[in-house]
Amino acid sequence: MVDKEWFKEWFDSHYYHLLYQSRDEKEAHQFIQRLIGRFALKKGLKIIDIACGKGRHSKFISTLGFDVTGIDLSAESITYAQKDENKNLHFARHDMREVFRPNYFDVALNLFTSFGYFESEEENKKAIQAMADNLVRQGHLVIDFLNVKKVIKTLPVKEQKTIENITFNIEKFLANGYITKEIAFDDEGRAFHFTEYVKNIQLHQFQEYLNLSGLEIIHTFGDYHLNSFDETTSDRLILICKKN
Ligand SMILES: C[S@@+](CC[C@H](N)C(=O)[O-])C[C@H]1O[C@@H](n2cnc3c(N)ncnc32)[C@H](O)[C@@H]1O
Repeated sequence: MVDKEWFKEWFDSHYYHLLYQSRDEKEAHQFIQRLIGRFALKKGLKIIDIACGKGRHSKFISTLGFDVTGIDLSAESITYAQKDENKNLHFARHDMREVFRPNYFDVALNLFTSFGYFESEEENKKAIQAMADNLVRQGHLVIDFLNVKKVIKTLPVKEQKTIENITFNIEKFLANGYITKEIAFDDEGRAFHFTEYVKNIQLHQFQEYLNLSGLEIIHTFGDYHLNSFDETTSDRLILICKKN
């Protein structure tokens, strides 16, 4: 069973940001630029970055001439992101299971595996419905998720990472339909333990959620270079969907 609402505490903690601090920003920027080019997105469009974290994608997209709003549940991340707000860049603390602003955005983004955290199917459906409801008709949703089939083949995994004198002991395995990551470490004489869960959601399951919300998949990419998705070899499952 998933620890209900585990994501509230972990993503809001200093240790989460420490562990993932070496994300590839260049790759993230190039991915955004490829998407904008491929779909010829016009400057001035309204974009919502759902589960934006500290706003790394939102900030970059706003520099390209779009009007961007980032939302996230983590108060810590949103407070940090808000330091860079301007007239085309806004951040708000908000739960993705609820609609933020109905029928308003041209594009909704859900990037870097920011889905699959919930305990129930109802919550998954609710979150996708809220993503759809944020969009204008004919608006587009981009979901950037893991290719779970490929990841599961590599499990179980054990690794150790030392960052700023903290040694994180990490175990990743499949349990009860979730890719489960146990993260244990000591800091200042205290032992910490967090668990991340990402649900084993495959393309056909996304298709069902999306159809229920009036969204149609129009492209399926398998990596940040926008190569086609192949369930055996692709690293990512990137869905481009249109609201009908
Ligand atoms: C893997 S991080 C990715 C963050 C960001 N998209 C990025 O690429 O840096 C997942 C994010 O989802 C957020 N999150 C988790 N549950 C959420 C919810 N119910 N509503 C909104 N955001 C949520 C977390 O706070 C965290 O910032």
